[in-house]
Amino acid sequence: DAPYLLRVTPSQLKQMNGRKGRDAWTALGGMVYNITPYVPFHPGGKGELLRCAGKDGNRLFNEVHSWVNYDNMLSACRIGIMVEEHASTT
Ligand code: HEM
Repeated sequence: DAPYLLRVTPSQLKQMNGRKGRDAWTALGGMVYNITPYVPFHPGGKGELLRCAGKDGNRLFNEVHSWVNYDNMLSACRIGIMVEEHASTT
């Protein structure tokens, strides 16, 4: 686990879309995950997984496999919590 959690605003999340050398982050259940190291392991493939990059992934995730325990699988990728736009400290 990361030693502390970042406070991530929607506009910061949007930057982290996996393009231009940036890592891919997604938000699920209010938590932010850096899914970059998981990309090669996703059973549904890279392209599908990266559809949730840089955004709230709940809708896409739940459409496909709402039964998958992402928080358990991605515990090492958990990096932050979503906060409102004005609440950024970074
Ligand atoms: C399959 C994890 C995001 C599309 C799977 C499976 C796991 C998984 C464990 C295998 C499920 C099974 O066989 O019962 C994750 C995690 C995600 C994520 C941890 C975290 C972000 C997404 C997203 C999409 C997606 C955003 C699509 C927009 C798929 C598809 C499969 C799949 C299509 C089925 C692959 C197949 O059976 O051929 N995913 N997934 N996943 N995932 Fe994801």
